[in-house]
Amino acid sequence: MKILVTGGLGYIGSHAIVQLLISNHEITIIDNLSNSQKETHKKIKDITGKNSDFYKIDTTNYAKLDNLCEKHNFDAVIHFAGYKAVGESINEPLKYYFNNLLSTINIAKLAIKYDINTIIFSSSATVYGNGESPFTEKSPLLERTNPYGETKAMCERILIDTQKAYPNLSLFLLRYFNPIGAHKSGLLGEIPNGIPNNLVPYITQVAKGKREKLQIYGNDYNTPDGTGIRDYIHVVDLAKGHVSALESNRTGINIYNLGTGKGTSVLELVNAFEKVNNIKIPFEIVSRRPGDIAVSYADVSKAKRELGWEAKLTLEDMVEDAWNFEKNLKKEENKND
Ligand code: NAD
Ligand code: UD1
Repeated sequence: MKILVTGGLGYIGSHAIVQLLISNHEITIIDNLSNSQKETHKKIKDITGKNSDFYKIDTTNYAKLDNLCEKHNFDAVIHFAGYKAVGESINEPLKYYFNNLLSTINIAKLAIKYDINTIIFSSSATVYGNGESPFTEKSPLLERTNPYGETKAMCERILIDTQKAYPNLSLFLLRYFNPIGAHKSGLLGEIPNGIPNNLVPYITQVAKGKREKLQIYGNDYNTPDGTGIRDYIHVVDLAKGHVSALESNRTGINIYNLGTGKGTSVLELVNAFEKVNNIKIPFEIVSRRPGDIAVSYADVSKAKRELGWEAKLTLEDMVEDAWNFEKNLKKEENKND
């Protein structure tokens, strides 16, 4: 299929493109490079041996997108482009609402205008708010604690309403749980901007000696060891979920949780990292982070049943590959120095 991938040079998009190229799809990438590097395009080629096109285009720029879609006959669009830093979204909400909503509206408009049959959208487990795990796709969408999460819920709504008005459109809303890890080659992974907010990038920087110790946000949750529980999923498994959605030929509105279905606590993750990589991670327990919930993990039976997809890689694979990527990161590639 001929696929437009927005935000394709980012963390998840680049891994998804590798899997799409392996499955012989024809890929056009657009990215404004606000949170990625152009070199990633070459790395995708190095891994797969296959070509893809790249255009530096901002998804909020309707005219440029229109021009691109007019020239190509896309069968599908996978829409990863967006801002994702929770803390920043609280301080700069309009930046988030503008970018994430306008980009999604533009993609939806052009899908209709050019008869692009399928939209796959990057949603998040954050839409479930402080609800009860395991989350199923029917779990209520409760109030989000930050503007980033709100944009995900709003974009879902925008796309669902669009599909209802244009029933020929196949819509996939993929709710990611906690993607971590990196490509085995060590070429693709996550490079956070500044001090990492997320657990695994913070741990790998402590392992590298860039940060002194990990702060664990609370050990007084109602969980077996008191620390927060999440459903960590290897980014390569997550990437494969997009290929499964695309190739499923399903019509209508399709919503899937992409996770492993297993919950892991912060302490369990730290222990796994230490054991697999044979590195000690110094940590201290500090107070809870505002907005965090105690437990979040997915019921993944729907994706297995309807897409034939399930996550295969283990927590050990995730922490090994995350460290392999950080270890090999060259100084000039690091945005935190
Ligand atoms: P990322 O920041 O690595 O990738 C997003 C890419 O989009 C970047 O390359 C960035 O340069 C690009 N981009 C941003 N705004 C753009 C615009 N206006 N025009 C063109 N390009 C633009 O993030 P990621 O982790 O790969 O996430 C991809 C998607 O998945 C995002 O929509 C994110 O919200 C969503 N998501 C991520 C997670 C996660 O934990 N990483 C969890 C749930 C959902
Ligand atoms: C966060 C976002 C979520 C977003 C996701 C992926 C919040 C409230 N949620 O999810 O919207 O989709 O990132 O970008 O920010 N932890 C520590 N120390 C750290 C970092 C994290 O103890 O330095 C703990 C957290 O309290 C949590 C777990 O580790 O229990 C995972 O945290 P994180 O990786 O930030 O992911 P989420 O909070 O689940």
